[in-house]
Amino acid sequence: MDTPDNGEGLKGVNFGPGFHATVGQHVDRSAYDRYVGDWSRLFVPTVLAAAEVAAADRILDIATGPGEAAALALAQVGPAGLVVGVDLSLAMLTAAHSRFAGARFRPVVSDGQALPFADATFDAVLCQLGLMFFPDPARGLAEFRRVLRPHRHAAVCVISTRERAPMWGVLAEILSRYLPAQQEVLHLSFALADAGRLERLLATTGFREISVTRETREGSFESFDDYWVPIEEGVGSLPQAYLALPAIASTGSTRGGAGAASAIRIQWTASNEC
Ligand SMILES: C[S@@+](CC[C@H](N)C(=O)[O-])C[C@H]1O[C@@H](n2cnc3c(N)ncnc32)[C@H](O)[C@@H]1O
Repeated sequence: MDTPDNGEGLKGVNFGPGFHATVGQHVDRSAYDRYVGDWSRLFVPTVLAAAEVAAADRILDIATGPGEAAALALAQVGPAGLVVGVDLSLAMLTAAHSRFAGARFRPVVSDGQALPFADATFDAVLCQLGLMFFPDPARGLAEFRRVLRPHRHAAVCVISTRERAPMWGVLAEILSRYLPAQQEVLHLSFALADAGRLERLLATTGFREISVTRETREGSFESFDDYWVPIEEGVGSLPQAYLALPAIASTGSTRGGAGAASAIRIQWTASNEC
């Protein structure tokens, strides 16, 4: 993998609705957790506190994925509350649905930019690591605002710059060298890293009393394989792109021998910022 992109792009990759789950394939929640979920979970308490989630609330978790924010929201709202998890990806919602069997969780397949709910339905709206993947985040935020009850709160968590979120930033950067035509989609995770832009988006979509803060959480890996194996499982846009590289698609795993691997090894203790 020392040779930069041959210009052929990602032949054969279909990122699937929402960019994270391959169409028709089951989401391996263990792989997802080790690639995103374990990191996401570190930020969820701050998000729920910002949304002022309380017992018996009716919560909307947009871009719920396998349910990182929903899990803690369910614990906080208790048996009298309800968490509705929306996602564009049926495979992601299936993973969440099986995780929360018997709990007060309702999965709904929908685009977060066009929600199938009446105005002022929810006591709080959450969007944990999802808004940056929306083609039109302002349209999404306007929908979040519309379905939120007056005087209640929405909380959105997005990823910072690729330099400040090396868990995904290093991979995005290296893949872009091989796939320059895919640069934009490979960097979607960092599309809302500019705090000023996020604040303006919130203000122009009708939110008031806006607060945008930067939060950093640290984690590390026991071994390089702990970092790399979930990527080879292919859950997430960057792992899907990696698996679709012509050299990988034809030969299978390159773990251990690849230029990409040695570049990532330098930074495998990561502190990620959202
Ligand atoms: C990085 S995952 C985050 C999942 C979960 N909230 C978490 O924190 O682990 C991003 C999720 O956003 C979903 N997504 C992307 N675009 C979306 C859209 N326009 N509407 C609804 N969900 C979307 C994806 O399918 C994926 O499940």
